[in-house]
Amino acid sequence: MMSGRRVILGVCGGIAAYKAADLARRLTQEGCEVTTVMTANACRFVTPLTFRTLTGRPVVTEFFADPASPVPHISLAQAAELVVVAPATADCLARAAQGRADDLLAAVLLDTVAPILWAPAMNTRMWEHPLTQGNVKKLTDLGHAFVGPCAGVLACGDTGQGKLAPLEEIVAAVRAKLIPAGPLAGKRVLITAGPTREPWDAIRYLSNRSSGRMGYALAAEARRRGAEVTLVSGPVSLTPPLGVRTLAVTTAQEMHAQAMALFPETDIVIASAAVADFRPAAPSSQKIKKQDMQAHLELVPNPDILADMGRAKSRQVLVGFAAESDPNLESAALKKMKNKNLDLIVANAAGGEQDAFDAEQSAALLLDARGGRREFARQTKAGLAAEILQSLEAWLLTTPHA
Ligand code: CTP
Repeated sequence: MMSGRRVILGVCGGIAAYKAADLARRLTQEGCEVTTVMTANACRFVTPLTFRTLTGRPVVTEFFADPASPVPHISLAQAAELVVVAPATADCLARAAQGRADDLLAAVLLDTVAPILWAPAMNTRMWEHPLTQGNVKKLTDLGHAFVGPCAGVLACGDTGQGKLAPLEEIVAAVRAKLIPAGPLAGKRVLITAGPTREPWDAIRYLSNRSSGRMGYALAAEARRRGAEVTLVSGPVSLTPPLGVRTLAVTTAQEMHAQAMALFPETDIVIASAAVADFRPAAPSSQKIKKQDMQAHLELVPNPDILADMGRAKSRQVLVGFAAESDPNLESAALKKMKNKNLDLIVANAAGGEQDAFDAEQSAALLLDARGGRREFARQTKAGLAAEILQSLEAWLLTTPHA
């Protein structure tokens, strides 16, 4: 469930740093990509090599160690989905509460937009000190989460509050942060995106203006909501969303083969691809000379991926798209939903002023097979993806079989 989730493990200089090595191992075993950030004092208790060996990933200890990455705190902080600090010392809490950025871990904590989870470990008096408690309150008010410390015999011989929380509790807290509890969490979602390209000869092809933006935005959003997402994408010039398995295809036949192979293992399909309905009947592997070119191009139909899924579906939820120039968008979309045996359909305009194709923004109408209807105003495709998936989640909650 945590496969591929990008976690920064911040390790501070306390004796419990040795336990952080086991935490790194457990998180890695659960599938997390753990990047360890160690303070200078942490390196005196455990070596960076220990963490590098256990996580199989880089360990960062200094600001300027890597000439290729002169501002590692920025790239680290931006890529993280969660920052866990274990063990967190009183000093680290104090510096974070003050907004200091004088070591790499402090800078990452200040720079990240990811949730932050603290697992403190320190002497009881230091933990109970009003200054430390004030810092904890300040950080809690900012939305930071805490796990532990718990009571027990401490390394200094004292008994009291201050022991690092049991590793199972820290791992459980990480899971709770990374795996959203919504109805898409853990669902296997297959998304088709972009255009397909149907070869005519060695250099020419038939295609359409789809940019793939809608499908990529849906993939990123579904992933954010905890789904395991596979994106089958036609040729686009977009960066694959982080944490999404992206499979590149070119033709409708390739997209069909790839999507149908994944279909039995899929819970939800969102077909946003603009699949070419036809392909040249006899594509040439050579460039066709002008004098040999026919005035008419013979076409043969491509498989309809979504219609095939509609015929094959058992428990899968099918969400289609309807791109329509027809002024009666709604009835055309309803017809498509029925013909292809879909559960939901997103209708948007193709061409004209409201054109959704190759556009940064789009409006949409979401219809479901039970007669539900939602209109979404023109907005970015990321915004639209969030609205569509929120509605899909609401629909899943009221649909017992899904
Ligand atoms: N679709 C598909 N395979 C195809 C054609 C379409 O999977 N060969 C999917 C699209 O991804 C979309 C839905 O079917 O989710 C409707 O696509 P659209 O192009 O709007 O409609 P068509 O079925 O192609 O019908 P028409 O071109 O007549 O509007």
